[in-house]
Amino acid sequence: MQISVTRRAHFNAAHRLHNPGWSDEKNREVFGLCNNPHYHGHNYELEVRVTGDIDPETGMVVDLVWLAQLIREQVEDRFDHKNLNIELPEFQNLIPSAENIAVVIWQILRGHLPERFGLHVRLYETPRNFVDVG
Ligand code: NI
Repeated sequence: MQISVTRRAHFNAAHRLHNPGWSDEKNREVFGLCNNPHYHGHNYELEVRVTGDIDPETGMVVDLVWLAQLIREQVEDRFDHKNLNIELPEFQNLIPSAENIAVVIWQILRGHLPERFGLHVRLYETPRNFVDVG
């Protein structure tokens, strides 16, 4: 039986949604407030769900202390209080929409998680808007 465990995490970050291939007018029209040239912040809430079998020796699917540490080092320490457009290499040529941020986080964590585990990432950009990956 496959069981899921979830760790919640949090970071604040600034971004700007802007497609350099478009006119300023079209960028404003499509991205609205998120196109502000001076950037703006969001309080991102992250849920990382790991799915697998319960290890009979530990009674656990995954060690949540280990998972929390992984998320802290790979996501929170890198993303928190950062300007995503400017400071993260992943967004040099990628629009830091909630969708793309969630995909980048999924890819980072996938690279550190043993293959036997399933991985699902949910990223809230606002309490009412969220994205699911995996
Ligand atoms: Ni925004």
